[in-house]
Amino acid sequence: MRRNLFFALVATALLTSCDDGPIEEKSYASSEGKNVKLEGVITGVDEWPDGFSVNLAGFVPDDDSYATIAKIVPSEQTGDYHVSMYLKAIPMEVTSVRLCLLNNLRQHIATFAEVDISDASSRDTVYFHVDTISAGMFTAIQKSYLTTTCAACHGATGRAAAGLFLTEDKSYEALVGQPSKKVEGQMIVKPGSAEESVLYQALTTELTQDWREYHRDLVSEYYEQNILPIIRSWIDNGAQR
Ligand code: HEC
Repeated sequence: MRRNLFFALVATALLTSCDDGPIEEKSYASSEGKNVKLEGVITGVDEWPDGFSVNLAGFVPDDDSYATIAKIVPSEQTGDYHVSMYLKAIPMEVTSVRLCLLNNLRQHIATFAEVDISDASSRDTVYFHVDTISAGMFTAIQKSYLTTTCAACHGATGRAAAGLFLTEDKSYEALVGQPSKKVEGQMIVKPGSAEESVLYQALTTELTQDWREYHRDLVSEYYEQNILPIIRSWIDNGAQR
């Protein structure tokens, strides 16, 4: 690592000592980085419990799962509020900046909006406008789990197992306060109680053992650590949209 840096510095010194070296070589000498300015009305930032936070964060193409650089979107106000903030001195290898949810290891959980900065040069500022956007719990659950893992059987093809649509346009109405077709007398999501919600039971107990699909198999270790606590907290706190 150090060795490479040393050679890079020597190479830069040699190249910059030529009168008409190629323009790109100058980027060696500058470590200023790119800048992004986020503007928009962002809701749900204050919903997140300890261990999770909404961030403006940069990602490199070959390691998409951890943020290379991140800055927390402040949540001191409740409800909707207008955000205007910068992420500065972003390393040149970062190609994507996201308004996203990270855990306390800076691991990426869900993306709410994204801007491509691969064409930006050092010292450029890219404007990232998001209009009005939700960065709340239900949006994160939908984008990071329901759409990717559940919708394949629940609605993405137009047909939904057990008549339950978990696609982005329909899932909230299909889940919250709706009676279960599988467990008599229970709701799929009962606001205020994850324990009494068929959705949560399906993912955390043996409830689905005799169903056509054993739903616990859909919960990887990553989801167990990052998504189940969010689902639980979302339901226990009233299952807001
Ligand atoms: C491989 C297909 C498949 C996938 C993927 C799948 N499900 Fe299911 N799901 C089913 C089937 C089939 C049933 C109905 C089971 C039966 O009738 O035996 C069902 C039923 C359910 C029910 C019960 C609905 C009710 O009325 O009580 C819930 C809740 C549910 N799924 C949630 C999910 C969630 C959340 C995910 C994503 C983590 C998911 N499912 C992924 C196939 C699937």
